Amino acid sequence: MSLPRPVTDVLDTALDKVVPAGYSSIGPALRRRWWPADPPAGALTGRHVVVTGASRGLGLAAATELARLGATVHLLGRDQARLDQAAAGIRVAVPNADVLPETCDVSDLDDVRAYAARTVESVPRLHALVHNAGVMPPSRTESAQGHELTLATHVVGPLLLTELLRPALAAADDSRVLVMSSGGMYSAPLQASWAHDLQYREGTYRGIRAYARTKRLQVLLAEQLATRLAADGVVVHSMHPGWASTEGIAESMPGFNRVVRPILRDARSGADTLVWLTASPEATTSTGLFWADRRPRSTTYLPWSTEDPQLRRQVWDAVATMAGIEHAPA
Ligand SMILES: NC(=O)c1ccc[n+]([C@@H]2O[C@H](COP(=O)([O-])OP(=O)(O)OC[C@H]3O[C@@H](n4cnc5c(N)ncnc54)[C@H](OP(=O)(O)O)[C@@H]3O)[C@@H](O)[C@H]2O)c1
Repeated sequence: MSLPRPVTDVLDTALDKVVPAGYSSIGPALRRRWWPADPPAGALTGRHVVVTGASRGLGLAAATELARLGATVHLLGRDQARLDQAAAGIRVAVPNADVLPETCDVSDLDDVRAYAARTVESVPRLHALVHNAGVMPPSRTESAQGHELTLATHVVGPLLLTELLRPALAAADDSRVLVMSSGGMYSAPLQASWAHDLQYREGTYRGIRAYARTKRLQVLLAEQLATRLAADGVVVHSMHPGWASTEGIAESMPGFNRVVRPILRDARSGADTLVWLTASPEATTSTGLFWADRRPRSTTYLPWSTEDPQLRRQVWDAVATMAGIEHAPA
């Protein structure tokens, strides 16, 4: 039985607000009855996609599905052996897969510059750049350039990588940048104190707090990049994957993982919206939106909450300065 659109709209939004229902495997099990169609077979044939954090978890699951859709997938991570193993696994799952394991530590701005310089030479047209790499260190750690590690990995490095790969993205038709945020960002609305303490030096450091803050900043990053890249015809979206069973979740949040394990999505289901946004033409009919389970969602838990535009600007300027790029959004 197919339900009328107004009914599925209400059901879908209610699932999102009742977090355990919408975020767990229950969410996609129900929503796939009404969500938009899968991308057609071969949708990405002849197209290059860069996926950061592709050695395991959601990045590996997404890379596998993108390869299945015909893409040449550049698998990025910090360790060549782990990437080679991931590539070998994809080639078993998808016999004709075209996958390129390439090291790049996205938290290290020198590494990002070196990787981008090689890539713009070898990949003149880039269909999609997927910022998926994620970390939740238990104590305050710094990147090679001295930035707090979640900020460097989730925000500063991705901003610089996007900027440097912009010519290749601009040269492709229907190109896109996708940012894997987290539903955890709902617990971290933009705070005035961040404008002077983005590096999380003040107060007691909590990894989960640093993670949620930088996942919020990723949503802001996607919105700002959407404006910045519009003139190049590149769309930018962020998303959350729900709760998915990965090594990252098991290592960073063992207690949570133990309790919710029976209802976690598998990694493929957690990567579904990312793959859909990478391959579907529907993703290019809008830009700067936040998605989950193939549908745009509010960026605040209460949809009428607003962010101070001046604070957004201050935070964006600070991040742009760290990445060493011009501040203007467009
Ligand atoms: N699983 C979930 O339920 C869930 C929920 C919300 C959001 N997310 C988000 O989804 C993304 C993937 O999560 P996951 O659960 O799949 O995590 P995961 O299993 O820990 O995988 C993280 C990936 O990121 C890579 N990585 C980490 N730091 C990197 C860096 N500096 N440069 C390049 N690669 C780096 C890791 O590879 P190497 O260690 O080999 O470098 C690994 O491939 C993250 O952004 C996470 O915040 C996940």
